[in-house]
Parts: sequence; structure tokens; C-alpha cells
Amino acid sequence: MAEPQPATAPLRLHALAYSLGVTAAVTAAARLELADALGEEPMTVADLATAVGAKQEPLGQLLRALACHGVFQETAPGRYTHTELSRLLRADAPGGRRAMALLAGAPFAWRIWERLDTAVRTGRSVFPDLYGTTLFTHLHEEEPELGALFDQAMAKSGVATAAAVAEVLDLTGTHTVADIGGGRGTLLKVLLERRPGLNGVLFELEPVAAGADPALRDGGELAARCKVVAGDCHVDVPVKADTYLLKGVVHMWDDETAVAALRTLARNAPAGARVVLIEQVLDATETPEIATVMNLLMLVSQGGRERTGGEFRELFERAGLRFHGITATGSVVHLVEGSVPAAP
Ligand SMILES: C[S@@+](CC[C@H](N)C(=O)[O-])C[C@H]1O[C@@H](n2cnc3c(N)ncnc32)[C@H](O)[C@@H]1O
Repeated sequence: MAEPQPATAPLRLHALAYSLGVTAAVTAAARLELADALGEEPMTVADLATAVGAKQEPLGQLLRALACHGVFQETAPGRYTHTELSRLLRADAPGGRRAMALLAGAPFAWRIWERLDTAVRTGRSVFPDLYGTTLFTHLHEEEPELGALFDQAMAKSGVATAAAVAEVLDLTGTHTVADIGGGRGTLLKVLLERRPGLNGVLFELEPVAAGADPALRDGGELAARCKVVAGDCHVDVPVKADTYLLKGVVHMWDDETAVAALRTLARNAPAGARVVLIEQVLDATETPEIATVMNLLMLVSQGGRERTGGEFRELFERAGLRFHGITATGSVVHLVEGSVPAAP
């Protein structure tokens, strides 16, 4: 085969403009459960087509496109094997991305991305115009299956980051840690497992709290040290803790909403309590290709945004919190830390 030539600018832009096809291909592979059908040994396209209920030729087209990006590999003409990336599409892969792939290419996602230019013009999410409500109301009240998929995608994709966060988050002196908007409790579970004396509170919207990891709510050693509290952090956070975590939460909100939510949290928090946001930091991230796309997704879906370190500092100060600094975790997220000042 001839050596690939460096892509010219028009070809690079051409590929970028059509990269939606890559999203579609990854989502289609997840829907077809291709990665589960392929075992440890290479398989022919014909056998794979039978296994997933597809036509052989178009399945070959799909596999060729995916393999071009390292998802599956063609080992001989018409025979495919797994790669590190394709294994992550298996339903049982630890830290796998199957649910994330289904979410990324879900119908609502195509609809909102299609209106990105409108969101850029107005600075607002396009979700309410399309669905007459907010993303989370839609997920919980109108499409509970999609809501469950969202929670599963967050839980699975959060496994590696939770471990990285637990490595660097210093909980010396913390008796109770609260995870606000903690999803199904992936991070909290890791923290409680690591520290036998630690207590935890998982604070989440009602439907998510109801689906919290059973280890945190149904008896057992961890559940004995953990409370699951259902609520809306825009209304009240009736939780007392020494350390409050918000992972991937503040980026859903514009500055006004974020400042108001941090003030609401601080209202019930003890003086001196730590507030640790766990977020991608735009001017510190080593994966800008992820952070910058998430920045747009937050805008178009919820009117939110990723932030620079300086913007986080400003957010803390506007919310009446002290800002302490930013710590890398060796994963895509940083710890952005502050505290509730003592009452004057
Ligand atoms: C992007 S997810 C992050 C989940 C989890 N912290 C993680 O990192 O995997 C945002 C979470 O915030 C929760 N959430 C959204 N609005 C909320 C609100 N008003 N009050 C409490 N939780 C909320 C959602 O249910 C969702 O689980």
C-alpha cells in the first residue's frame, strides 16, 4: 500500500465537516451490539452480519469506516478483530463507553447539535425551544429510558476519573463528604471504599437518587456509612458535610445559575467546609479536543460552559466562597477547590 500523503487543508476540512458520520458509525456499532458479537478470535463479516442481524455488505462498509479510526481492525480481507477502542463498546467493559456512544448519537443529540449556530447567536440552550422543557425534565419525566441511559453513561465513563480523583483528593480531617449531583454514586463509592472511617451523602434529583448504586443504599457496610438524599440543588441543599464535591455539575450552568447554586449550597454548609468542583479546565486540560466539544455541548444542551481557571475563581468569588486553587488529577478533570468562609 502507498504511504498516506499529508492531508491538504481542503481535505482536512472535508473530513471535519463529515465527522458526524464517525459519530453515526460509533452509535450504529453500539446499537447493533457489534462489539459483543465479536469474540476473542477474528470473525468474518459474513458471520458478524448473521450474529447482529445485518446485511453483509453494508456491515462491511460500517466496519471499514470504524477500523479507519481504530475501532475494530481488519486482520485479513473481510475478517475483523477487536482493538482497545472496540472493546470499550462491549456492554460489560469496565469503564466502557457503549452507553456514552448511544447517548452521543441519540435522536435528541442530533436535533440539538443541528442548531448550534442558534445557540451561538443567542447564548442559550436550544433544548427548551425544541422540547418545551429542560434536558433533565425531559430525561426524567418524558423519556425515562433515555434518562437511565444518561445515568449509566455517566456512571461507566466516570469509573476511571473517579479513581484518579480519589488518588489526589486529600480527605484528611473530613468526616463527611457530600457528592452533589453525584449521579449513581460512582465517585462516592470509590471514596468510601478507600476510607473506612468516612461517611458520605449522595445528593441527586429524585429519579437518579432512586437508581443509586445498590451498594450505597441497600444495606451492607458502605450503605451504613452513606445517605442518599433526593432534592434539587437550585432549591435547597439540606446536607451537612465537611467537603462538598460537584463533579461535572457546574459546567451544565451559565454563570448566574452556577453562582446561585453555589450560594444555595453554602447556605447550609458549615463555615470552613470545602467546596471542590471537579471539572475540565479549559486552560489547563491536556485533552482540549474533548473539553472544547463538551464546552459546546453544555451550551447547546443546557446553556452551560466549561471554564478557565480564572473563570472558576471569579465564580467562587461571586458566590461568596474563598478560592484556593486548581489541582491536576492525571485524568481529564481537575479539582477546583474553595471553601465556605467563616461568618463575619
Ligand atoms: C453530568 S452529570 C454528572 C454526574 C456525576 N457527578 C458524574 O460525574 O458522573 C450531572 C448530574 O447532575 C444532576 N443534576 C442536574 N440538575 C440537578 C439539580 N438541580 N439538583 C441536583 N442534581 C442535579 C443530574 O441528575 C446528573 O446526574
